[in-house]
Amino acid sequence: MNNNLKAVDLSICHRLLYPSIPVMVVSSTKDKTSAMLAVSVIVISNAPPLLGISISPHHTTYRTIRSSKSFTISLFDAKSIPLLKILARKQGYKRKDKLSESGFHKEITPKLKTIAPKEAIAILECKVLRDLRVGDHRFLISRIISATASNDFKGYWRYKDYNPILYIGSTTGFLFCKVFRTEKIGFLTKSFIQSR
Ligand SMILES: Cc1cc2nc3c(=O)[nH]c(=O)nc-3n(C[C@H](O)[C@H](O)[C@H](O)COP(=O)(O)O)c2cc1C
Repeated sequence: MNNNLKAVDLSICHRLLYPSIPVMVVSSTKDKTSAMLAVSVIVISNAPPLLGISISPHHTTYRTIRSSKSFTISLFDAKSIPLLKILARKQGYKRKDKLSESGFHKEITPKLKTIAPKEAIAILECKVLRDLRVGDHRFLISRIISATASNDFKGYWRYKDYNPILYIGSTTGFLFCKVFRTEKIGFLTKSFIQSR
């Protein structure tokens, strides 16, 4: 046991896992397009391809997913940080189309014919299989129906054109940072800490 470690309040222990790559969750019905950022996302099975996401039941996007039983997960390049910040500050409950109102453009996905942002550099289409109550969140287990990505992805991200975003958390707003590459592989975490 490292004696230099000190106790962290359990209500904020999720922040120990930052930085995290934020994704956008979009779900739509005939009358509404909901969108929110999320970091509690994980692929939980490769075959079949299953994705888990933890969402607060208070979020409008969760309610839209309950109706539509489907959603898209999108990844973004650092170029999209300004638009993502606009979306992160908006609440969806009184909005018909939070995605467009935040300045994103919409496209229809190939398989589920649902909505995803045109600005994304990768999109997963997901169909909800299970909706579990887990503490104060819902854990959605979903089947990934299709995945598309920009040319930078050749089995792995090459990071030639894709500059990932890291979410580092904030008590005063939404802090995102670009990741700067140093050598051929690996990222310069020092740069983003300094950018805070
Ligand atoms: C970077 C970032 C990551 C987030 N991750 C999650 C998450 O994983 N699960 C969650 O329930 N809320 C998460 N949130 C909070 C929701 O995105 C936020 O409450 C949003 O306003 C909900 O929007 P809606 O009510 O329009 O659906 C995150 C917020 C940010 C800024």
